[in-house]
Amino acid sequence: MKCCSMKTGLLFCIMCAFLLCLHKIRQKGSIYHSTSTKNLTILLWNWPFGRKFSLKGDVCWDLYKIPSCRLLDEHSSFPSADVVVFHNREVIQGSQKMPTDLPRPHGQRWAWMSLESPAHNGNLQKFANIFNMTISYRRDADVTIPYGELQFVESEGNLPEDSHMNKTSLVCWVVSNYRNNQKRTQVYNELNAIVPVDVYGRWNKKPLSSDDLLPTISRCYFYLAFENSVAKDYITEKLWKNAYQGGAVPIVLGPPISDYNAVAPTHSFIHVDEFASVRFLGEYLQKLAEDRERYKEYFNWKKHWKVKVSVDWRERLCHICLQYNNLPQNKVYSDLEAWDKAYYT
Ligand SMILES: *[C@@H]1O[C@H](CO)[C@@H](O)[C@H](O)[C@H]1NC(C)=O
Ligand SMILES: *[C@@H]1O[C@H](CO)[C@@H](O)[C@H](O)[C@H]1NC(C)=O
Ligand SMILES: *[C@@H]1O[C@H](CO)[C@@H](O)[C@H](O)[C@H]1NC(C)=O
Repeated sequence: MKCCSMKTGLLFCIMCAFLLCLHKIRQKGSIYHSTSTKNLTILLWNWPFGRKFSLKGDVCWDLYKIPSCRLLDEHSSFPSADVVVFHNREVIQGSQKMPTDLPRPHGQRWAWMSLESPAHNGNLQKFANIFNMTISYRRDADVTIPYGELQFVESEGNLPEDSHMNKTSLVCWVVSNYRNNQKRTQVYNELNAIVPVDVYGRWNKKPLSSDDLLPTISRCYFYLAFENSVAKDYITEKLWKNAYQGGAVPIVLGPPISDYNAVAPTHSFIHVDEFASVRFLGEYLQKLAEDRERYKEYFNWKKHWKVKVSVDWRERLCHICLQYNNLPQNKVYSDLEAWDKAYYT
C-alpha cells in the first residue's frame, strides 16, 4: 500500500511539473507574440542612385514574407523611425542632406549603406561619430547584404548532364570599364597570350544585351569573374550571376581565396592565386576543358546549392528587421573611413 501511494504521489508531482512547464511555455509564447507584432520602422532617407521603388502596402510581408517590418521613405517619418538608412553615394556627394540638425530620437539608429568597393565610396572622414551601424556586402558589417548567395537545397538536384555541350569558347570575359592600371587587366593580358580569351562588352565594342549575357556565357568553359577592385569580401554578380547562372566555371580574381571559401562551395571556382603564374593557370584551363570528367566535377555543387542573386533594395532593407534584435547596443562608428578602407588594396 505504502509503496503504491508513494508511486502515485511521484506521478502526481511529475504531472504538476509538466503542467507548470506547459503553462510557462505558453506564457512565453504570448509575450513573444505581442512583441513581434509591433512594427519596426525602417526609414530609407535617400534611394540608391535616385531610383525609387514602390513602397505601397506592407512591402516586407507582401514581397518577402518578413513580418512586422515597415519600410518608409517619407522624411516626415523621421521621429518614429527605429532605423534611418542613408545610402552613401548621395550623402557623400552632397546631393542629399542628412538631418543632422534634427534631434535624434532616443534609441534610433543611423545606418550607413553601400554596395560599392572602398575605391568608390569616397572619403568618409566627415562621417566620424554619426553612424550606429553599417549595411554592406562585408561579412563583418552589422547587416550583410551580399550581391548573391547560395541556398542549400535538401533534395539532390539534377546536374546538367551536358555541361560540356555547346561550348565553343574556352575563356570568356565581359568588361565595360577597361583600365590599364587594374590588376585584372594585367592578368587578362597575360592569360590572353597563352589561351584565347573572348572579350565582350562596351570596351571591346561587343556589348551584350541583358538577354544575350547568360546564353553567351553558357557557351564558354570558363568565365573571368574578375572584380574591378580588390577588397575584403567584394564579390559581385560577376560570380553569382554571370558565371554560376551562366553555367561557366568562374575564374575569380578579387579578395583572397578564404573570402570566397566563406561564401562559395569548394571546387566551384578557380582562384588565380592558386597558381604560381598566369601561365600555369592557362595551361590548367586547357587541360581541364579536355577532360570531361574533371571539368564536370566543377558543377557538383549544383546538387545541393541554388544561386540567389540580389537586386532589389527593398529586400535588403526588409532584411534589417530580421537582424535588428542582434544589433549591438549603443554602437558608434567613430572612424567610418578607417572601417571602410581596412583590408583595401
Ligand atoms: C505594420 O506596418 C504595416 C505596413 O506598413 C501595416 O500595414 C500594419 O498595420 C502595421 N501594424 C501595426 C501593428 O502598426
Ligand atoms: C545546345 O544548342 C542547341 C541548338 O542551339 C539547343 O537546342 C540545346 O538546347 C543546347 N543545349 C544546351 C545544353 O544548352
Ligand atoms: C547612435 O550614435 C549616436 C552618436 O552619433 C549616439 O549618440 C547614440 O547613442 C547612438 N544610438 C544607438 C542606439 O546606438
